Amino acid sequence: MKTFYIETFGCQMNAHDSEKVVGTLLEKGYQQVDTVENAELVLYNTCSIRDKAEQKVFHRLQQFKREAGKGKVFGVLGCVAQQEGERIFERAPHVSLVAGSASYTKLPEMLIQLETGNRRVTGLSLDTTDTFDTPFTSRDSPHRAYITIIEGCDKACAYCVVPFTRGPERSRTSESVLREARSLAELGYSEVQLLGQNVNSYRDPSPTGWDFARLLDETGRIEGLRRVRFTTSHPRDFGKSIIDAIDRNEALCNHVHLPVQSGSDAVLNRMQRLYNRSDYMSRVEWMKKARRDIAITTDIIVGFPGETEADFNDTLRLINEVEYDAMFIFKYSKRPNTSALQHEDHIPEEEKTRRFTLLQEQQRSIQMRRNARYVGKHEHVHVEGYNVATNQWIGRTSQHKPLNFTDAQLPAPSAEKTLNGKYLDVLVTRASPNSLAGESVLQ
Ligand code: 5AD
Ligand code: SF4
Repeated sequence: MKTFYIETFGCQMNAHDSEKVVGTLLEKGYQQVDTVENAELVLYNTCSIRDKAEQKVFHRLQQFKREAGKGKVFGVLGCVAQQEGERIFERAPHVSLVAGSASYTKLPEMLIQLETGNRRVTGLSLDTTDTFDTPFTSRDSPHRAYITIIEGCDKACAYCVVPFTRGPERSRTSESVLREARSLAELGYSEVQLLGQNVNSYRDPSPTGWDFARLLDETGRIEGLRRVRFTTSHPRDFGKSIIDAIDRNEALCNHVHLPVQSGSDAVLNRMQRLYNRSDYMSRVEWMKKARRDIAITTDIIVGFPGETEADFNDTLRLINEVEYDAMFIFKYSKRPNTSALQHEDHIPEEEKTRRFTLLQEQQRSIQMRRNARYVGKHEHVHVEGYNVATNQWIGRTSQHKPLNFTDAQLPAPSAEKTLNGKYLDVLVTRASPNSLAGESVLQ
């Protein structure tokens, strides 16, 4: 068993976990292949944040089943693995390995068990103080890299599976984070993203006891790092010192993803979010008053149990007030183990869809307005790739806005030349709700 295939769903944490799994397997002499057919070990890194994501897992596992019996070994990793545990063996008997994210340090041992013919191997303990700190992380991009700074979540939002699938919070030492960041800079990475389910409740476990703002600031001072991002922030733990750090330190990107979930105090209270609308708006106020133009993005859940029309209208009013730069909207989905299951007043699916659409339409015009402000201005982009369909280079601004552009000197990449990984000055000529377009300025 020396070839493997891996497929990944879910958030950036999951994407990064897969990079760690790939790195570990490569180090153990495995070879990565692009298709299930060519692989001896098939891994599936799963997400269970909403019911749909979880359904997808079992559907995909059914598809894999066709390949079973050909000597292949199937493994389910990630949040569905942690949540469903050994039940996965019942629903998908061709699966031999079920392991949650807190068990990846044990992956080499689990692989040995599989190689020696063990049919059922599990790694489901959440009882670990380890943060998966491997020297063998494989990176999907040569320019941008993820760094995990905190694992798990100690909040208890009424709708959320994460505390169950990723366990309690464990922060990594600042020394270990900075060591990884420095070595990435030395390898030529210029952009890093600090990751955690609740990144700003970071607390250095070593005696220095740094908080998140300090760690962010120090990371932004590493030579060679031009952009430092972070996600995801919880409003309750979001202190003004983070904004002060962004204002002080140009390497810190002027973008904050701050999920609000709802604009109604009653709903926030039932969601057990630990802040109210006014607490949230005071954080928005800090950002609006900052020296730098900070882009604010958010997540919203529509149709949480008991959400009335008045509650929903509060959310519409809030998004008009904040004027978010981007928004992810989700219809509430019942999740196992969560306390919201106890609410009885569930909202009908059609009503969730109606609220979803209304919110989406309103946000679309806000984004159009927000993005139109950039037309005629110069923006700095980090180039990520080239779109052959539109003949445009693809880049992102510090605010994380996609900015697609043409370049007179290098209209398309060639075998010898690319703009990927470069930072360029681009004149914005057009705006749409989800992206900007422009022309690079001759240097
Ligand atoms: N139903 C719908 N959306 C959810 N989210 C988390 N749990 C649920 C759920 N049960 C959303 C939240 C969170 C984002 C990652 O997913 O908005 O911020
Ligand atoms: Fe999905 Fe949440 Fe797990 Fe990320 S942590 S993969 S969003 S369930």
